[in-house]
Parts: sequence; structure tokens; C-alpha cells
Amino acid sequence: MCGIVAAVAQRNVQEILLEGLKRLEYRGYDSAGMTVFNDGVLTRHRALGKVAALTAQLDKAALPGFSGIAHTRWATHGKPSEANAHPHHSSDQVAVVHNGIIENYEAIKESLQRSGYAFSSETDTEVIAHLLSEKLADGLSLFDATQQIVNGLGGAYALGVMCAQEPGVVVGARQGSPLVVGVGINEAFLASDPLALLPVTDRFIYLEEGDLVELREQGAIRIVDRHGNDVERPIHTFEHGDGAASKGDYRHYMLKEIFEQPTVIEAALEGRLSAQSVLIESFGPDALALFQRTRHMHIIACGTSYHAGLVARYWLERYAGVPVQVEVASEYRYRHPVVPEGTLFVTLSQSGETADTLAALRFAKTLNYVGSLAICNVPGSSLVRESDMSLMTRAGPEIGVASTKAFTTQLVALMLLTLSVSKAKNQVEYLDIIAALRTLPEVCQRVLALDSQIEILSQAFAEKHHALFLGRGAHYPIALEGALKLKEISYIHAEAYPAGELKHGPLALVDSEMPVISVAPNDDLLEKLKSNLQEVRARGGKLFVFADESVGIDVQEDIRVLTLPHVHEALAPLLYTLPLQLLSYHVAVLKGTDVDQPRNLAKSVTVE
Ligand code: M6R
Repeated sequence: MCGIVAAVAQRNVQEILLEGLKRLEYRGYDSAGMTVFNDGVLTRHRALGKVAALTAQLDKAALPGFSGIAHTRWATHGKPSEANAHPHHSSDQVAVVHNGIIENYEAIKESLQRSGYAFSSETDTEVIAHLLSEKLADGLSLFDATQQIVNGLGGAYALGVMCAQEPGVVVGARQGSPLVVGVGINEAFLASDPLALLPVTDRFIYLEEGDLVELREQGAIRIVDRHGNDVERPIHTFEHGDGAASKGDYRHYMLKEIFEQPTVIEAALEGRLSAQSVLIESFGPDALALFQRTRHMHIIACGTSYHAGLVARYWLERYAGVPVQVEVASEYRYRHPVVPEGTLFVTLSQSGETADTLAALRFAKTLNYVGSLAICNVPGSSLVRESDMSLMTRAGPEIGVASTKAFTTQLVALMLLTLSVSKAKNQVEYLDIIAALRTLPEVCQRVLALDSQIEILSQAFAEKHHALFLGRGAHYPIALEGALKLKEISYIHAEAYPAGELKHGPLALVDSEMPVISVAPNDDLLEKLKSNLQEVRARGGKLFVFADESVGIDVQEDIRVLTLPHVHEALAPLLYTLPLQLLSYHVAVLKGTDVDQPRNLAKSVTVE
């Protein structure tokens, strides 16, 4: 999604803005641009493609100045092009960067055109520049003008705006898209994500919905809430350190994040288990009472987070006896859900800013749920702030667009939820699962040590156009996640099925050109899975099986088997995720795709 960086500093801001844009590259984008107040005028550079293309322009014609706004654009209205790249200007008097979608832009555009404004882009954003221009011509300050025009904007936005009349001022606004204020020493900044500003500050204010902020020289910051009242918002210190935002010795962020999993799983468990028990209060002081009242759960999420929810359904029903419905947020928010009495609403999100998930939460708050719980990786995010309870996954910043450690730490959090609900409602503690959770980081380490063998397996996929993933029970969602990883970073078409469903249609696709990947832990569905694998072999399909060391599937010409260490059956979905992540990673590297920023995708999907 689009990324915003802005600065009002005591030094040249060009490098601050450029470095910020590079740090936002992970969000996914197709063009970049920057406007700086330079020599008495607003001066702009824009480039199609990567931030490197913008950097090359700036190498030829620098943009020195003490205040500026910059942007990476992920196209929604209008194709990726230099003309559609932000910032958008109105008569070189106003400059605007925007993340989100202005839903009523067409009506506004027609009205502005009637007033004589000429448009130079196909974007929804350009209307904001001209609206501001109109208000400034009436004599309003940039802050007052922004405050007036946002009332007429429908949809979602985070904005950074500046004008030629007020050189040391940047105004920001937030409604439906994330925006943080970086608090420097006599300097102030704006960004879509704190990561963008870590070279200049580790202190951040997370703006609330409807907030407007003005940055002025000497680091002056004024925030006004949606009702027009001046407000003080708390300053948070970023806890993860700047190292989290670098690749270290790894070739890609994704690989680094895959290998971080033993460490972050340990972090996700820390302080949440006592010697013999799960600590329900990790979910907050009201959790025990709420879980005791919980008779159903609705879990809502998108993409990879949705797959984590699907795994949790198996766990919560089996170990806590709670009926669970899991649904993608973009469907849920437009249904008319029936909410049985005693239903807890649970959202899962790495970013906590996913527009559909956030909208689902807001919709759910109008229904008769007993409460809302967010399982999230970003403490100050909208989802966390707006939920009754939250549990942080503690994965640390995830930069690769393809989610890896965010997923496995969500699963840890969901297992803690399962154990907590079981304890709260039924007084049952699963001591064997608690013990197994403690050993999980070490078992994951042993699976990651199989990396070179998985790299060899990946060679069989580089020339393929399709792949099938199979799993049963709680491993069906793991197959779904494996297929999602393969398609999003290697662009190979992949589908996942519950293995028992194969014979009801997809078996028709199986021939010697179709690789079929299956996860085979030693659980009570193993024998059934083995029969399904025979169905594939009988049709000439090539099988790649990730199997428990004890299951005894022999390597043959048409079956390649990689054995994984034994783990408690309940935790197998976590463990079997790792080889599928590595497989996708190596296939993508062989195919030469952009592993960390796959085409067309964005990290944080803040538009509907
Ligand atoms: O930040 P969220 O977890 O809410 O994001 C939801 C999806 O966009 C996300 O999980 C996406 O599917 C993954 N990045 C894919 O790897």
C-alpha cells in the first residue's frame, strides 16, 4: 500500500525522506515522489518504478530544504505512471500525499472542474490539492483549510500536505489509514509506519481516527481530534530497535524472518505460561470473566491471518469445546451475521491496520458480541486500540510481504487462547501441550536445519506452472498457507485441498506434470492421508511429502519424502508450516522473482 513520509527538520530533509521511502518499500508500490520547500517554492520529483529511480533523479538535481513530503504509490485510481505518482500539486502552491481512497472524488472533481481547476492525473488524490488551494485562496491557514476539507472527504485517508505560503509547516490527517508522528529533538516527522523514521527518532505518537496534526519548525506539534479539540496523545518508544529493519547477513528479509521463528515463538510464549499452567491474564484483567461467558467464537481475518484462524477452529473445538466460525473479513463485513448469545469476536492481523478487518471489528461492535479480542503484532495499531482485549504476537517488524513469522506467532497466540478458554470454562489444563510448547523453539530450529535439503527439492518446481497442496484436519489450513506462499512469491499457480476432497474433482488435474505437496504428521488421520496419496500416485502425480519421522512413507521414484522431527500432534501445524515457507522461498529465488516485494502485492492492505 501507499507509504507516506514527511519532515519538518533543522537539516536538509531530502535524505530523511528518501531513507524513509526505502524503509516503506516493503509495503508494496509502483512509483515514488517527493516535494520539498526549496528556494521559496514547492519543488517536486516523481518517478515510475522503484525508489532507486527517484534517487537517480535526485542525484542529478538535488532537492535540499528543511520541510518536505514524500510518497510511495500503490495504484488504485489510474495506472502506475509518473503523472499519477504523488505528491499531487495544485498550481505549485499546494502539495499532497495520500494513502487510502477518496470514494466521492468523482463528484468533487466535477465540481472543481466547473470552478476552473485543471486535472493532470487520473487519481482520486488530486481533488485534495485543488480543494486546499480553494480554501487557501479564501485566506485560511493550511491547518484550517485541511480541517475544513476533510469533512467533505468520503472513504479512507492518511494525508500529508504542505503549501508555499507556509514554508515550515506540514499538516497531516488520519481517517481509516495509518499515520504516526515521529517526535524528534526540535524536529517532527510523519510516516505510515514508525520503521520509516527509525534513523531519526524512536519516539512516536499514534494518531487516532479523525485526528489532524500540524508540524512546525522547532519540532512544534499540535494535534486536534475529530471534534476540533486540541488534544495530547501519549508518546510511545519503539521497542524493537532499528536492527529489526535490516536484512543482516540474509539475502532477503523473508529468509531472515523464517529463521527468526524459533526466537519469536519463544518471545510469544514468554511470561504467558507458568510451570504447569497457562496464564489467562496475559489477555488482560477481564479475560477470565469474558472467557467464562464465551459460548461461541467468530474469528475474522484476511489472507495468511485467516489461515491461522482456520487452524484455531480445530484447536478451540477439540481442546476447549467452543464452536467457532472463521471468515474472511471482506465477506463478513457485508453479511448479516447471526450472533448467538455469548459469542466472542476475535480478529487476527499482523499489521492491525488491514482495512477489511478493521471495518469488520467496527461492524461487530454494533452487534451483540460479549466482547472483542485482537491478536496482533503491532501494539499501537487501530485494531488493538479499538478492541476490548488484545494479545500481542511479539513477532517484531515483518518486512517481507509474504507473512512467515507473523503467522507462526499468531498460531502460538491462538494456542494460548485455546488453553486459556479451556482452563476458564472447563477447568481443564493440557499439561502435555504446555510442555510441548516449551520445546517448540528447539524443534523449529531442527526443522530449519533441513533448509539445504528443501533447497534441493525446490529445483523440481522452478519450471512448473501449477502445484497442488494437500493436508487433512488442522493441516488443511497449513496446505492453504503453503499454496498462498508459493503463488505470491513464485507466481506459480497453486491450490490447496483437504486430501479427502481430491477425488471429488481436483484429481482430474493430476498427471506427471503436477507436483503434489502433502504434509503428513503422525496424527489420527495419517492412514486416511496415505490412501489419498496413493490416489495421486495411481494417476502419475509426483508427490513431495513432509512427514513425521515415524510415519514410514518410503522414498520411491514418484515420492520424495523429507522427514521432520516428532512434535505433539496439537503443535504439528506450526512445525509443518516451516518447510513450506522454505520451499516457496527457494522456488522464488530460483525463478528470480522479487521475493520481498512480490508484484501487485502490498504488505499492509489499508484500502478496501
Ligand atoms: O496485516 P494482516 O495480517 O491483517 O494482513 C492480512 C493479509 O493481507 C496478509 O496476511 C497477507 O495475506 C500476507 N502478507 C500474505 O503472505
